[in-house]
Amino acid sequence: MFLTLFLISLISMFKFGFTPFSTYPCLITITTPSLQKPHLSLQSLHPNSNFGVVLQRQLEEEAQAREHIGDGGEFWKQPDGLGYKPCLSFTRDYRRASEGIIKNRRKYLMVVVSGGMNQQRNQIVDAVVIARILGAALVVPILQVNVIWGDESEFGDIFDFEHFKNVLSDDVRVVSALPSTHLMTRPVEGSPPPHVTPSWIRGRYHRKLTREGVLLLRGLDSRLAKDLPPDLQKLRCKVAFHALRFAKPIQEIGDKIAERMASKGPYLALHLRMEKDVWVRTGCLPGLTPEFDEIVNNERIQRPELLTAKSNMTYHERKMAGLCPLNAMEVTRLLKGLGAPRNARIYWAGGEPLGGKEALVPLIKEFPNFYNKEDLAKPGELEPFANKASLMAAIDYIVSEKSDVFMPSHGGNMGHAIQGHRAYAGHKKYITPNKRHMLPYFLNSSLSEQEFNRIMKELHQDSLGQPELRTLKAGRDVTKYPIPECMCKNDSH
Ligand SMILES: *[C@@H]1O[C@H](CO)[C@@H](O)[C@H](O)[C@H]1NC(C)=O
Ligand SMILES: *[C@@H]1O[C@H](CO)[C@@H](O)[C@H](O)[C@H]1NC(C)=O
Repeated sequence: MFLTLFLISLISMFKFGFTPFSTYPCLITITTPSLQKPHLSLQSLHPNSNFGVVLQRQLEEEAQAREHIGDGGEFWKQPDGLGYKPCLSFTRDYRRASEGIIKNRRKYLMVVVSGGMNQQRNQIVDAVVIARILGAALVVPILQVNVIWGDESEFGDIFDFEHFKNVLSDDVRVVSALPSTHLMTRPVEGSPPPHVTPSWIRGRYHRKLTREGVLLLRGLDSRLAKDLPPDLQKLRCKVAFHALRFAKPIQEIGDKIAERMASKGPYLALHLRMEKDVWVRTGCLPGLTPEFDEIVNNERIQRPELLTAKSNMTYHERKMAGLCPLNAMEVTRLLKGLGAPRNARIYWAGGEPLGGKEALVPLIKEFPNFYNKEDLAKPGELEPFANKASLMAAIDYIVSEKSDVFMPSHGGNMGHAIQGHRAYAGHKKYITPNKRHMLPYFLNSSLSEQEFNRIMKELHQDSLGQPELRTLKAGRDVTKYPIPECMCKNDSH
């Protein structure tokens, strides 16, 4: 009985990280000879007593057991959500206005959305809000075939259209096609400049739309201002977190793969941005062999239009400024530093890295339980989605959203969407690599591994997906930071 209690209290000590060595769980791996032995830290607890020796032995056994189980207690611990919960109750004025908007049969908004799946997602969110601002019905968004990704999927192939329509039925009328009364109308076309306000949109399009009946908008990327009235912010969250659900076949395969990951304990989802086009576009180098650097540099010379980064900086400057995606070696060191145990189950999302599987070797060596959707799918399961970048991205989205911990190797639309989604789901752990601050330590070879790991933890203690106010910094998007408009504490609403 006593022993049981003792063990339970020990285990809870580990869980809450009160013992010195549980702060460094990943140090207990074979690859780190310089690690601090557990008993060193225990001597300070019970210097010369017998009890200390017994305790020490038991803890050592425990530690050995942990080495195999490797629960990485601290790493899997979720941030404190501070009691924030989704709150999407609209004002009475908004609801009153809905009635007329839903009934309207004269005005239709058509939108063409572009880019990768996550980029299209953002634009669809804004399209719904623009339709609401104009009091128009929204025709199912047209997905432009992407030049880079080459995917001809339509809205209904990626998203559940009926669900989309039903969830929004109190906010905006969504229709699957223009009605026959409007088919012959030549739509008013437009492409708003960045960050326009609702009054700008009304001023610019309302009269024309009322006259012509159909408005066609394209190029909606970041066109809507980030600061909108609270009701419209809530509407953005409603679209992003409730209305946009993936089509059934995708949701099913995504759920299956997520279950396969989760069946053996917690898992980490990593979004790796190591594809060739990413290195070319960002003006960064993949950190492999010089041959690969040359491939990237040549591509950049041949297709300068791809380079979106500021081209005035050298590669090294860009890297140290935190503008480059992390490579596999850096992700590995960071994860180890943050306490990911060797047996951590990792799902990696993203496309084929430049250099193929070889580029992932640092990660696989350190974390052998390393999978992507191809590894986890049964033969034939992925076939319906093969060569459809948007559908593959959607599967990655689902598995990433459901993970216990998520970390992107670089910012971007997917990271953005997942960050908001995980916050909305109760602030599930989301690690934002603090690249600019951490990289100097990666280059310092005189730092011990232990010191390095301590620094990594310290640099990331506030970048683990804790609640953060959108309004803390200008320009933040409510679908990335849902507080305060879309999440509140019980007492405040
Ligand atoms: C490049 O950097 C230099 C000095 O840092 C600056 O004077 C110049 O205007 C920059 N050029 C561009 C195109 O930004
Ligand atoms: C590397 O780390 C050591 C130990 O913390 C420190 O004294 C030294 O200044 C660092 N070197 C550089 C170049 O930052």
